[in-house]
Amino acid sequence: MSQLSRISELSVVIQTSTSKIDEYLSAEGLPPLSFDVHSASKPPDAILPFQTAILEAIDELHALVQGPVPFIINLTSRNHNSLISLHAIYRFSIASSIPIDGEATFAQIAERCNLAEDDARRLLRHAMTFRIFREPREGVVAQTAAAAMGRPDVRGYVAGGDEGHPVYVEIGKDEQRAQRFADAMTFFHQRPGLNMKYLLEEYEWVSGRDRTLFVDVGGSHGPVSIALAEKFPSFHCIVQDLPEVIEKANAPPPAIASRVGYMAHDFFEPQPVCNADYYYFRWILHNWSDKYALRILRSLVPAMKHGARVIVNEFCVPPPGVLSLYRERDVRGYDMAMKELQNAKERDAGEWARLFETADRRFFMKEIREPAGSDLAIIVAEWVAKDEVEEKQTA
Ligand SMILES: C[S@@+](CC[C@H](N)C(=O)[O-])C[C@H]1O[C@@H](n2cnc3c(N)ncnc32)[C@H](O)[C@@H]1O
Repeated sequence: MSQLSRISELSVVIQTSTSKIDEYLSAEGLPPLSFDVHSASKPPDAILPFQTAILEAIDELHALVQGPVPFIINLTSRNHNSLISLHAIYRFSIASSIPIDGEATFAQIAERCNLAEDDARRLLRHAMTFRIFREPREGVVAQTAAAAMGRPDVRGYVAGGDEGHPVYVEIGKDEQRAQRFADAMTFFHQRPGLNMKYLLEEYEWVSGRDRTLFVDVGGSHGPVSIALAEKFPSFHCIVQDLPEVIEKANAPPPAIASRVGYMAHDFFEPQPVCNADYYYFRWILHNWSDKYALRILRSLVPAMKHGARVIVNEFCVPPPGVLSLYRERDVRGYDMAMKELQNAKERDAGEWARLFETADRRFFMKEIREPAGSDLAIIVAEWVAKDEVEEKQTA
């Protein structure tokens, strides 16, 4: 029997996994996957393993069937401008100019969005190649599920800054932009690998005592604190962020309002909340090079009590070859974005350990937990009071 070629092997993976998805959807009475404007914004969690297998196989097949030279040409000519139309859709509020269940002509959209008709047509037809909007009849535009994400309730964002300013300072100068960034963080966390369940369920939070004090440093509008306070009645959470971000935060749900507070605090200044049980950082340290990440960690020192934990919820970059190239590219893509945005980085296990050790020898790396299915690792360091450091180091 002849052996299958690699491209045929990949097509079998795709065939098998798509059948599994169809079987699941049909058994659950769910509609087929689609970009129809009323379709689910993301597939059910149960099909995620099949989804990953398909995407990994497609990625490799896509490269193999092109061949190396066309692959590289397409990579350079197609990818770098793929966000231009998305940016314009946000900037000119194009998604809001088309009724969710209706249609609009290019001329109507241009008028509503204050654009030249030719620009509207070109931008939208570019976006349509990514299934963002569709053209059911020539000259007429309708929404798709991806396009509807650009409506004001769920918006994307574009960050950027003048040379020499941290991007957050730049964003914070403009109230609307700060709000957009916070909304984008909330939107982004709809990605399955960022589901909060990994943090809530796969770490043994100490919650049995009367009061567990949790400080959410750079916590934006506090989604993590809200989820923890809802799950653990002993949790008292303080969300800290820049003043312009805190000002825009909505009040927490009434049931937990007395246990979730907001505080303007610059994390480069000494931590004002002393003796907390947890100081939590989600997607903070990857925004900063080691020089600044060390300053952020050191600013905690005056507040720390023996046994307090610093929990960092971030990517932990795997060594090369552990993940498929498709998934590794994702993490390394974030690393590139951090470099581009803030001269910052995603860190691997050794780099996380070194960062804590360099910040202060009383931070002891306890563990790096990587829940299956989660994009983010749970990186835990414990503060050990001075007189116990020697003992711990020799143990
Ligand atoms: C990538 S976001 C992460 C937000 C949140 N931890 C989450 O996971 O949704 C980084 C956050 O750091 C905040 N930030 C930036 N510079 C800060 C500073 N100097 N002090 C406090 N917060 C800051 C930003 O306003 C933003 O909310």
